[in-house]
Amino acid sequence: MLEDTIKKIEAQIEAIPVLSPVTSELLGIISEPNHSLHDVVAIVETDAVLTSLVLKTVNSAAYALERPIETVSDAILFLGDTIIAGLALRREKSGVATANLSGYLADADSNWAHALKTAIAARYFAKRFSGGKVREGVAYTAGILHDIGKSLISTLFTDDQFTSIKDTEFIDLEKEILGISHAEAGYMLAIKWKLPAVMCDVIRWHHEPSVAQDDSKVLTYIIHLADLTAMMSGSGTGIDTMRHTIDSNYSKYLSISDRDLELAFFEIQLEYNTTFNAIQASFESLKSYQSVEKNQ
Ligand SMILES: [Fe+2]
Ligand SMILES: [Fe+2]
Repeated sequence: MLEDTIKKIEAQIEAIPVLSPVTSELLGIISEPNHSLHDVVAIVETDAVLTSLVLKTVNSAAYALERPIETVSDAILFLGDTIIAGLALRREKSGVATANLSGYLADADSNWAHALKTAIAARYFAKRFSGGKVREGVAYTAGILHDIGKSLISTLFTDDQFTSIKDTEFIDLEKEILGISHAEAGYMLAIKWKLPAVMCDVIRWHHEPSVAQDDSKVLTYIIHLADLTAMMSGSGTGIDTMRHTIDSNYSKYLSISDRDLELAFFEIQLEYNTTFNAIQASFESLKSYQSVEKNQ
């Protein structure tokens, strides 16, 4: 049974396109501590579609700029470079952050919304509460990628499997039903994509952060907390929302008080609303441009 499941997942992993070179390069650059704006601009400018997405995002109604921004470097100065990684990952052909998760009763939009809110929350926690131990770009990228395993196992569930058992921790329920969790499946894909070891570890242990390697523990607790924050503020991924327990040991690794958390909820939601709308608008306008091109 488990062997069959693993084979199915491996076949799916084989069929998933690898990350594009531009996305891989961007993820590498923004996780380096001393990277410059120029490095990011240089990569974005080699890619016409990404350039257009960046400019459309910054000039969308969500930011209500008085004058349009016309260059990639001004756009990145305004938006920050982490959002560029989000745009690049959302555009990926693999669709892992934008897949329809029918097995979880979540559509593509909720999958993306959950990934984006987790990313924004993770960057927020890294910047303010990790004591400089986790870089913002790494936290944001891990937030987008943490649930990539869901797209691999979503189709393996049948309709009634989750509703029949109510009180089990969701990750254990996945293991009970399939023999493997979305975190383990995501880890397999992360290895195939040759993501950095820390990123692989975070994807694997984001629901059981105490087991993560020492090197990746702070980041894993950040993603754990960011994931729960996204769910608690209305951006879950369907059936598993609020069926994960929080490991309160996060407070050993992040200097964050309950009052900080309350304020974080509010500020993350505000930032998420603006970013989500801006990114949505840029992809919508790209879609309509591509369909005009196709019809010509
Ligand atoms: Fe997860
Ligand atoms: Fe999640």
